[in-house]
Amino acid sequence: MITVYGYLGAPRPALVDAAASASLVVGGRRHLDALAVPDGRRLVLGRIDPAIDAIRALPAGADAVVVASGDPLFYGVVRRLRAAGLALRVVPEVGSLQAAFAAVALPWDDALLVSAHGNDPAPALAACRTHPKVGLLTDPRTGLGEIVAATAGLGRLYVLAERIGEEDERVRVLTEDEAAAVTPAQPHVVLVLAHHPDDPAALGAQHPLAGGPREDLP
Ligand SMILES: C[S@@+](CC[C@H](N)C(=O)[O-])C[C@H]1O[C@@H](n2cnc3c(N)ncnc32)[C@H](O)[C@@H]1O
Repeated sequence: MITVYGYLGAPRPALVDAAASASLVVGGRRHLDALAVPDGRRLVLGRIDPAIDAIRALPAGADAVVVASGDPLFYGVVRRLRAAGLALRVVPEVGSLQAAFAAVALPWDDALLVSAHGNDPAPALAACRTHPKVGLLTDPRTGLGEIVAATAGLGRLYVLAERIGEEDERVRVLTEDEAAAVTPAQPHVVLVLAHHPDDPAALGAQHPLAGGPREDLP
């Protein structure tokens, strides 16, 4: 059985148990360290192909655990594992963007959720200029600094959510000037808002299509 567990801050008890007994545990180094997975049973996730090969090489009936941040179905590993033909069980966690919106008590059904993580960041940064409520997954190359530069002069507010769920988690609401002076910790997500989260205007409007009205649909 291959089980993909989401992880945000602290592992759920079922993940702790599964990681203690699985033949192979695949995940980021900080996740594997937190689960105290010994060298002989761990594979640190970098490129996905070696992980797929290692899972396929397990004897029939062996258990593999894959640890992924947040919701593994949202910009996570599940697409590539399933595309490789692996049958999976998925145990999701709260996603990092969901947690960031919760930290400032803002509904997110009207938000545009985008990823600059390992992608061409241009579409995600463009969305921040045109949409009033955007949640961005970042990576070490495209983070708060690049987001602020792409939205300079628009009067946006930035919710910087660093290391969600960890002991040093920090969530701040920053103006453009404040955000430009911050070097964020990794990992982090950023909400780019046209209104301060405490302004009722930031609540936005509920729309049948998540992310708000679309000009190309009725
Ligand atoms: C490949 S994406 C995975 C997103 C994940 N599936 C989710 O639902 O949150 C990785 C990015 O998610 C964000 N992220 C993941 N864990 C985080 C955490 N604990 N605190 C803040 N951001 C996090 C960061 O922007 C990170 O670069």
